[in-house]
Amino acid sequence: MKSEVGTSLCRKQSLIEDARKEKEVPEVTTSDPMAVMCSHLDGGSSILNLIFTISNTTPSHFSSSLKILENHGTIIYHVETRPAGRCKEKEELECFVKCLIPNPSICSLLSSLKKITSDVKVIKDLTSFSFPRKVQDLDMCQHLSMKFEPHFNRDHPGFGDQEYKKRRGYFAELAYNYKDGNIIPRIEYTAEEIATWSQVYKSLSGLYPNYACKQYLHSFHQLEKNCGYTENAIPQLQDVSNFLKERTGFKLRPAAGLLSARDFLACLAFRVFPCTQYLRHPSSAMHSPEPDCCHELLGHIPMLADKEFAQFSQDIGLASLGASDEDIEKLSTLYWFTIEFGLCKEKGSIKAYGAGLLSSYGELLYAFSSKPELKPFDPEVTAIQPYQDNSFQPVYFVSESFEDSKVKLRQYAVKMKKPFYLWYDPFTCSVEILDSFQKVRSALCQIKDELKSLCSALDKIY
Ligand SMILES: [Fe+2]
Repeated sequence: MKSEVGTSLCRKQSLIEDARKEKEVPEVTTSDPMAVMCSHLDGGSSILNLIFTISNTTPSHFSSSLKILENHGTIIYHVETRPAGRCKEKEELECFVKCLIPNPSICSLLSSLKKITSDVKVIKDLTSFSFPRKVQDLDMCQHLSMKFEPHFNRDHPGFGDQEYKKRRGYFAELAYNYKDGNIIPRIEYTAEEIATWSQVYKSLSGLYPNYACKQYLHSFHQLEKNCGYTENAIPQLQDVSNFLKERTGFKLRPAAGLLSARDFLACLAFRVFPCTQYLRHPSSAMHSPEPDCCHELLGHIPMLADKEFAQFSQDIGLASLGASDEDIEKLSTLYWFTIEFGLCKEKGSIKAYGAGLLSSYGELLYAFSSKPELKPFDPEVTAIQPYQDNSFQPVYFVSESFEDSKVKLRQYAVKMKKPFYLWYDPFTCSVEILDSFQKVRSALCQIKDELKSLCSALDKIY
C-alpha cells in the first residue's frame, strides 16, 4: 500500500486532509435545495444532517418538528439537542438530526420545518458521501502520502541522488496522466534497474518454496510461465494486469507513490490495485522504505491471482467506502496485518501470504524465527494493534484460512457505524447504496437468478 511524487505538488495532500478542510466550509442552506440534492446520493434516498432552532421549548413543539420528519418518510439515525444560546432573554433549543429521507421529499421537508422552526440548515456529511461510486472515479483517488518519499525524506537512500529523483518524476507523470481504461505505458528499464530487480528476484525466489503459502506458489509459477516473471527482465504492468483480469477480475493502475489509506482502500473496492512502476534506489536493493515494483510484483501480484484472497481484498476496500476517519485507520491496520504482513495455517504449519513479508528477505526470515509474537487473526484485536512501518513487526497475525478471515472481516464490517449498505455490481464495476426496498429486491433477484443457474448445474451433475 504505497507509492511517489513528481511535479504535481498540489496533489500531495491526503483525502482525509481534504475532507477535513471541506468540513470547515460546511453549510448548504435551505435556499439552495438543489445543491443539497446534488451533494448527496443519486438514488432514491439521501442522508441529511439537519440543524434547526426551536424557539418554543415545550415538549409539544419539539414533537411537532419530529412529526414533520415522520410525515416525510424519514428514518432517524441520530438526534441531539442543546440550548441555542443565541438570545439570553429567550429559551431556545438547537436540534441536530441525522436522517434518511426519500429525495422527492427533501424540499417539502425543509419548507415545512421552516414554518415552525428557524435557522434550518443542512450540513454536508463528507465521510458518508464523498467516495467513488464507479471505477472511473478512481482517477480522482490518487492522493499521496509523502512520508517515505525521496524528495522529502532525508533518510530515503535516493534523497541526495538528483538522477534518481528525475527518473522518479518521469514515473510520477505517467501515473498522474493515467485514466481508467488506458493501456498502462510500457517501460524501457535501464540496465541498473534490471540489475536491482534481478538481485531481489534471485534472493527471494529461493525462499518461497519454504515460506510462501500454496496459493502464492501456484500463482508465482503461473506468472513465470505466462507473464514474463524472470530474473532477467522486469514484467510490464499491462501484461500483469491482463493476467490478473483473467483470473480474479483485478486490474492494475500505475501509482505515483504511496497513496493515502482512504484512496488506496477505495481502489481495492473496485478490484483495482494501484501499482508503482519505479525501482528502489540501487544502493539499497534489499530494502525499500516505500513500495516499488519489486514489492508490488513479487509481494502483491501472486496473491491477487487467488480468488479467495482477491475477494478478501475487495471486502476490505468495500468496508472503507464512506467510513469515518477512525474506521479508515482500523481498516488500514487490518490491511497491514493481513495483506501486507499476514501469515496463515497450512497443513499443520505456518506460511506467509503478506506482500511485505514475501518481498523482504530479512523480514520473511525474521517472521519465522522465534522473535516475533504470533496471534490468531481476530479483526477486533488486529484492527487496534500498533504497527511498525520502519522496522520489523513485533507481532504477526495468523489466519485459519482465507475463507475464515473473509467471514470474520465481513462480521467486523457489518458492525461498523455506516448508515447504509453497499452493493458491488461486477457488470458495471460500480457500487450502489441499498437504501430502498426496490434496490434490495433488485439485488436479491440477481442473486436468485444466479442461484437458479447453479442449482441447474447441480441437477446436471447428479
Ligand atoms: Fe504493499
